[in-house]
Amino acid sequence: MTAAELARRAEATARDGRAAIEAASTLDELDEAERQFLGKSSPLHDVREAIKSVDGADRATVGKALAAARSALEAAHAERRETLEQDAAAEAATRDRLDLTLPPREYRRGHLHPVTRIWRELEDVFVGMGYKVAEGPEVELDWYNFEALNFPPGHPARAMQDTLYVRLGDSEEVLLRTHTSPVQVRVMEAQRPPIYVVAPGRVFRRDTLDARHSPVFHQIEGLAVDRGITLGDLLGTVEAFIHALFGPDIQARFLPSFFPFTEPSVEFAMSCVFCRGSGCTVCSRTGWIELGGAGMVDPEVLKNVGIDPEEYTGFAFGFGIDRLVQLLYGVDHVKNLWDGDARFAGQF
Ligand code: PHE
Repeated sequence: MTAAELARRAEATARDGRAAIEAASTLDELDEAERQFLGKSSPLHDVREAIKSVDGADRATVGKALAAARSALEAAHAERRETLEQDAAAEAATRDRLDLTLPPREYRRGHLHPVTRIWRELEDVFVGMGYKVAEGPEVELDWYNFEALNFPPGHPARAMQDTLYVRLGDSEEVLLRTHTSPVQVRVMEAQRPPIYVVAPGRVFRRDTLDARHSPVFHQIEGLAVDRGITLGDLLGTVEAFIHALFGPDIQARFLPSFFPFTEPSVEFAMSCVFCRGSGCTVCSRTGWIELGGAGMVDPEVLKNVGIDPEEYTGFAFGFGIDRLVQLLYGVDHVKNLWDGDARFAGQF
């Protein structure tokens, strides 16, 4: 081959090679084109071999054409490689991208337990009537739970069947309070009339668990001691809180009763909030829902705490909170309230 032919061959290879390189759509295809046009089997290789048989003067022409073809192919290859690598990187970035648009996990807001809610609602109603909230210990002395409240020795409420005694101090001296009434005594010991307090809290009895009884439950106590307090004030107060809580259509009813620490004593009920008094399964077809006990503070109790019953009179009331919650929320078994199952509380 003549020098001119060799030079043309080099130029043609550069043209074809460039076309192949630019047509490569993957890095594999590009490698293949490189092998074909820049490798050992490339026509450029043959041209280089053939250069030896070309005369000195023409060698430079062929050498230049060869070098130009090589560098043109190398430049095209480098450029194409960069493009393909960028495309591959961009594609990988898209494929492996973190999808930050996923919806977040459901966020659930907690709320108060239904008993806590009614407890606070009751407090609010009485605070609105001018009462203060008082507290007493859950582990109590016999004096406060029974003795000062006029429970005679041997009264059935003191017996083991009702009371959970704590092994502390003298035998049967320390106990878990069976009602919130001991707070009456503690408040009257600590302050002089006028006294207007409510005392919500946990109480304990040796009761067997059934749908409406639990050995641990909650009561709210009320106590008013002032000059000239009458039974009429008690009835009006109970009626006022029933209306505040359930609306003016719900009626209050009082029946004579007995408690050692009140005289006279009453039991109070409200007309059924479900059937409005006509009778349904919730109120056992009576139209009434029993709430609790109340009465005028017995003069003996006032004397026990050093308040002159000739100067002051008072009334007290107490009722269960859990029972109220069961009624209002339709909870059939009291244990559901205290199982600690979040799925239960979550319903309300
Ligand atoms: N402490 C009484 C009970 O638990 C209720 C009560 C409270 C009665 C205040 C009269 C006055 O049954």
